[in-house]
Amino acid sequence: MKIAVVGTGYVGLVTGTCLAETGNDVTCVDINEEKVEKMNRGQIPIYEPGLETLFYRNIAQRRLDFTSNLADAIKDAKIIFLALPTPPGDDGSADLSYVLGAAKDIAGLITDYKVVVTKSTVPVGTADKVTAVFRANTSVEVDVVSNPEFLREGVAVEDFMKPDRVVVGTRSERARKLMEELYGPYVRSGNPIIFMDERSSELTKYAANSFLATKITFMNEVANLCELVGADVDMVRRGIGADARIGKRFLFPGVGYGGSCFPKDVQALAKSASEVNYDFSILNSVMSVNEKQKVVIVEKMRRYYKGDLKGKKFAMWGLAFKPETDDIREAPALYIIDELLKEGAEIVAYDPEAMENVKRLKGDTIKYAADAYEAVQGADALIIVTEWSLFRTPDFDRIEAGLKSRVIFDGRNLYDLQKMIDCGYYYNSIGRKT
Ligand code: UGA
Repeated sequence: MKIAVVGTGYVGLVTGTCLAETGNDVTCVDINEEKVEKMNRGQIPIYEPGLETLFYRNIAQRRLDFTSNLADAIKDAKIIFLALPTPPGDDGSADLSYVLGAAKDIAGLITDYKVVVTKSTVPVGTADKVTAVFRANTSVEVDVVSNPEFLREGVAVEDFMKPDRVVVGTRSERARKLMEELYGPYVRSGNPIIFMDERSSELTKYAANSFLATKITFMNEVANLCELVGADVDMVRRGIGADARIGKRFLFPGVGYGGSCFPKDVQALAKSASEVNYDFSILNSVMSVNEKQKVVIVEKMRRYYKGDLKGKKFAMWGLAFKPETDDIREAPALYIIDELLKEGAEIVAYDPEAMENVKRLKGDTIKYAADAYEAVQGADALIIVTEWSLFRTPDFDRIEAGLKSRVIFDGRNLYDLQKMIDCGYYYNSIGRKT
């Protein structure tokens, strides 16, 4: 099927590439000509495991190309995906100007039936607004479909190719058939394509992310309580996760959730609710607990060093908001860095992918190490913020040789508690004994 994807950000690029992989003919459009030219030369603008292989293959086999000419891209396309930014405005609500602007441009160009799919996370009612733009600007028949993405950074290719479910919001039989045909190859294992109306589909996305953020936040609170009552959150997590109604996943306490999705979506859902005079109060708690959780590690450090962090040198392992990405949006590491710098501490950080991004933001207010062991050289303590695999089984001899004393603040519970204690560490993790 001929597909156009408008917007080559993270979602657009993963969507376009993965749609090409099953044999569709995909053209991605972006207004940034330099970016388009680079992509046509095979340069991939984002880091996402597994995407590069698919990207090269589909460009080489001419199923995937890039243009800045919208008219060319959509001319023969049956389905047009809108994967455009919806940044939060000053009041926290999503700014739809890119989405509505693109709809208007498309309306001025089309001559035959199109399915236009909103892939960006958009507030409830957006499909209706986009439909209104088409009605006002063209007499050509268009069905506007909501199809939220549930991709996790770091495993986005797998999430797209083998989704747990595909949610499609449309009340048009014609659009439904096309979407069924398009997604058929991705749900061969029997996972469902769930069809619903547009508003339910739009809300599904916010509810899913907000629910997951709530689940994590709940566990962070349980972890904090565990520390106060002498329980072990790893045990509690396993104890409750074995109940199929609760489930094992997304129960890992840590330094709070970050990234470009959870913080923005929880805030947007709370805002949407307040607009219809509904006080979705649990979401307000989730947001405020998460803010505190991001710097819980600094609180622990203050206690350990009796309020005096001035002049102390700390190694920080991990800057990205989670492993397998260079994304630092809303990353807890940034909040921890700010707090520690305020206290007059020195930080030497190491992250396998995110250091360049942090450098752009924080400059030389912190130091950057060439590898994990260089970071611990002469440090008073090691702080672990992101659970990259290479931090899971490090060479403790090299850590000990570098650290001034055996002190680790672990925001991700990477190591066996008893082993650390037996090795003479002061090991402060989340929701476990110290
Ligand atoms: C999230 C959702 O998981 C995707 O389904 C969704 O499509 C995406 O947002 C989006 O809306 O685009 P993502 O932000 O890439 O994906 O990352 P997650 O893997 O969900 O992690 C989010 C945050 O929660 C991270 O900061 C992570 O460290 C934290 N987390 C996750 C925990 O603290 N504990 C856990 O058990 C799981």
